[in-house]
Amino acid sequence: MTDTTAAPAAPKPASDPAAEKAAQDRVIIFDTTLRDGEQSPGATMTHEEKIEIATLLDEMGVDVIEAGFPIASEGDFQAVSEIAKLAQSATICGLARANPMDIDRCWEAIRHAKSPRIHTFIGTSPLHRDITQLSQDAMAERIHDTVTHARNLCDNVQWSPMDATRTEHDFLRRVVEIAIRAGATTINIPDTVGYTAPRESAALIAMLIDQVPGARDVVFSTHCHNDLGMATANSLAAVEAGARQIECTINGLGERAGNTALEEVVMALRVRNDILPWQTRIDTRRIMQASRLVSGVTGFAVQFNKAVVGKNAFLHESGIHQDGVLKNVETFEIMKPEDIGLNVNNIVMGKHSGRAALRSKLADLGYEVEGNQLTDIFVRFKALADRKKEVYDEDLIALMQDQTSAAADDLVQLQYLRVVCGTESPQTAEMALVIDGEEQRTTATGDGPVDATFNAVKALVPHTTQLQLYQVHAVTGGTDAQATVSVRLEAEGRIFTGQSADTDTVVASARAYINALNKQLHFERAGRPGVTYKSAS
Ligand code: KIV
Ligand code: ZN
Repeated sequence: MTDTTAAPAAPKPASDPAAEKAAQDRVIIFDTTLRDGEQSPGATMTHEEKIEIATLLDEMGVDVIEAGFPIASEGDFQAVSEIAKLAQSATICGLARANPMDIDRCWEAIRHAKSPRIHTFIGTSPLHRDITQLSQDAMAERIHDTVTHARNLCDNVQWSPMDATRTEHDFLRRVVEIAIRAGATTINIPDTVGYTAPRESAALIAMLIDQVPGARDVVFSTHCHNDLGMATANSLAAVEAGARQIECTINGLGERAGNTALEEVVMALRVRNDILPWQTRIDTRRIMQASRLVSGVTGFAVQFNKAVVGKNAFLHESGIHQDGVLKNVETFEIMKPEDIGLNVNNIVMGKHSGRAALRSKLADLGYEVEGNQLTDIFVRFKALADRKKEVYDEDLIALMQDQTSAAADDLVQLQYLRVVCGTESPQTAEMALVIDGEEQRTTATGDGPVDATFNAVKALVPHTTQLQLYQVHAVTGGTDAQATVSVRLEAEGRIFTGQSADTDTVVASARAYINALNKQLHFERAGRPGVTYKSAS
C-alpha cells in the first residue's frame, strides 16, 4: 500500500499577525452556479450564457468560481477554459473525480487562469463506498494518490469527501488528514443530500479542525444542499465553527432543492455582522442583477417570497406594514433594497421615452448597455411601447432576459408566424424560419394555437426532443401584459430550457421553443464534434 504520510507539506499559515487576523475575518465565497447549479435538471446553459454569468460573478467579487466539470463534455471543457482566461480577480476552479484522467483534463482547462484551482472529490460514506466497491484502505490510498497528482499540477487544490455528513467520523478524520498531507489547501465538507442540521454542521467542522493534524493550516469549506431548507443556516453554523469558505449558488440553484443561496449567506453576514462578524468581498449591489441573469438563463423563476431576491421581499402590502414603513422604513425592513441593487425609482417608461432615459433606466436595473446592444434593445422597447401603454421595470427585465437568450449565431430563427384560432379545431400556424441562413416555410395544424405552432417548428426542424415543460407567466397585470414563456425540452437525458417574452403569448411560445431547440443544437455541435445539423428540405 502507498505510504500516505510521504507527501508534500501543506502550506504554512500566514506569519504576519495582521494578515492572519484579516484571513480569520474573511469568508471566501465559492460560487458553483456553473457546476452544481447547472447540474440541476433543466438548468443547462449555453457557452455564451456561462461566460456572461462568470463575468458577472468575477465583477461582483466572488472569490472562487467553480466554472464546470471539464471532463464531462467538450462543451464543459471549452467553457471552463474560456472562463479561466477571462477572469480578472476570481480563482477559477474545475471539478474532477478521483482519477488522473479527470484531474489532467481539469488542469488542462484551468491552467491559463491567473489563479487556478483543482477540486477533486470522492464519495466517502458507506453508501458511496458500496457503489465504488472500495474498502476504506483502498479509498484512503486513492485519495492520497489523486490529491498528490493534483498537487503536482497545481498548488491550489481543494478536496471533498462527498456525503461527508453521513461518513463515519473516524474514517472522515483519517481521509481528511490524508488529503491535507497530500497537499490539499482547502478541505470542503459537503452535506450532499441536505441531511445535516445547524448544530451538527458546526460540530462536524469543529471536530475536524480540532482533531485532524494539520487542519489549522488549511481552509475548511462548507457545501450544503437545501433538502430540508437548512442550507443557509448550516453554512453559517459551519462558519461559526471555523469554516472560512462557503460554497453557494445564485438563487440557490442546484440539484433537487438546490444549494446554499449566495445572496442569503452574503446578506446574512452583512445584516447580522454584529453576531456573524465575518466579511465577504461581494459587491451586494450586483445581487439582483445576478439573480435575474441566472433566472433568465435557466428559465427557473424565483419564487415570489424567496429570501433577499424574491419579488415580494421588499413589498409591504398590509396597511399596518405600509404605515410603519412610511413613518420609519426600519420598522419592517432590515436591509435596504438598494443594497442588493434593487431599483427604487419606479418611473414608468412609455413610447415617448428616449434612448438616454432607457439607458439610465436599464442601468438602474443593473444592465449596462451601450452601442449596438442599446440600439437593439431600444428598437424592441419602442415596439413594445407601441403595443403597451406603460412599460414597467418587469417588462424591461423580461426584454433584457429575452435579449440574453436570443443569440445572433442561433441556427434557427423565427422569421414569421401567423396563427388562425377559433372555436373550431384544429388551429393552424403558418410559419417561416431561417435555418442555418436559409428561409423555410410551412403550415401546420394542432390542438390549439401553441400546439399548431410547435408542430410547425417540428415540421421545419425534425427532432426527437420531448417537450417536458411549458410554462406561461404574466410579467405584469393587465390584458396587454407581456407573457414570459419557459419551455423545457429533453433529448437523450439532457435538458434544454428556452425563454422568451412578448405581448403575444403564441409568439413568445414559438420563440421560447426555438430558443430551447437552439441550445440543443449548440450543445450537439460543441459537445459532440462531428454531429452536424441537417435541416428539413
Ligand atoms: O454535493 C456534493 O457533494 C458535491 C461535491 C462534488 C462537492 O457537489
Ligand atoms: Zn453539491
